[in-house]
Amino acid sequence: MLYDNHGRVINYLRIAVTDRCNLRCHYCMPEEGIKYVDRSNLLTFEELERVVTIFSRLGIDKIRITGGEPFLRKGINDFLESIVAIGRVKSTHITTNGTLTHDKVGELKNLGVSSVNLSLDSLDPSRFFEITRRDNFDRVMTTLAELIEYEIPTKINMVVMNRHNIDDILPMIELTKHNEISVRFLEEMPFNGSGEHDDLSTWNHIHILDYIKSNHPGLRKINDGPNSTSSNYQVPGYVGNIGVIASFSRTFCGTCNRLRLTPIGLLKTCLYDDGVFNIRDLIRQGATDADLSHTLIEALSHRAKDGYEAEQKRSIIRVSESMATIGG
Ligand code: GTP
Ligand code: 5AD
Ligand code: SF4
Repeated sequence: MLYDNHGRVINYLRIAVTDRCNLRCHYCMPEEGIKYVDRSNLLTFEELERVVTIFSRLGIDKIRITGGEPFLRKGINDFLESIVAIGRVKSTHITTNGTLTHDKVGELKNLGVSSVNLSLDSLDPSRFFEITRRDNFDRVMTTLAELIEYEIPTKINMVVMNRHNIDDILPMIELTKHNEISVRFLEEMPFNGSGEHDDLSTWNHIHILDYIKSNHPGLRKINDGPNSTSSNYQVPGYVGNIGVIASFSRTFCGTCNRLRLTPIGLLKTCLYDDGVFNIRDLIRQGATDADLSHTLIEALSHRAKDGYEAEQKRSIIRVSESMATIGG
């Protein structure tokens, strides 16, 4: 097993396979988009398979594929198949915006994908357009319907934004009445590609939960699971559940089990750090499997204790990169 310097087990690797996206959610990217990296700077799928194989020998057994939008990368299905097939990888998950998967969910099921987290910030087509700046609502809703039909465990991620989608909170909860899905309400974070944002603490996890409880006084706390980002609840009588993710307040760092690889191979031991080493460069300089293992183990010996410490230690203090550059 892999441990960090604070005794936390590390078994979860999030891989961003691209920084490109076909939406322009304003909490993630400015309208004109971000400057995408040249494709030659991306880790190739062969390089990624090698990294996962090496890391899995050390104790990584959960992989999440993110982006940008992961289904924009050519060959993604074959890549997913190869990751699922790595013996020590117990589960492979995807976080997607659902705009390119409306006719692919059956394939994902066949590939052995364990679960899908779907980014969906509104159930109202015009608000969806206002938030994402693209007209893709119907496709995302089809993806959701298919995920439910194929019984792929599904979590909806809704970023809660003052003045944008507060009216969506209650309708989102209603989705859990008859569907065994989870709907999670996320605090907005500053990763929007510009560094400019409103006060992010307005709708923090406490406010979100108070708002939900004032409308559902019977809300029941349920089990969170060992390394959950969300604090989970259920409306009595509903088959699904809801969760609140304190992503900006950072209340769950004490049990954080995750590493991140950005599209260009920067390894991050915290969402809020600015990268610890570049694994693509090491690979292209000829590093052996043992070199890569040692570099990871060494990086874990000085991991920040939480997202606040990681942020403080950044060389560029102001957090301004896009979530698509980091990979969720
Ligand atoms: P599960 O594997 O289902 O637990 O999903 P996840 O929550 O790890 O993944 P997902 O990609 O769905 O992320 C959902 C949201 O959780 C992100 O948008 C962030 O808001 C938050 N989040 C995920 N990982 C971290 C983290 O390491 N730190 C912080 N502060 N927030 C995180
Ligand atoms: N704040 C909070 N969540 C964000 N996401 C993207 N950008 C932000 C942000 N600035 C979410 C997406 C996706 C998840 C991986 O990250 O909605 O569901
Ligand atoms: Fe694309 Fe996801 Fe960023 Fe939205 S949050 S612009 S879907 S990468």
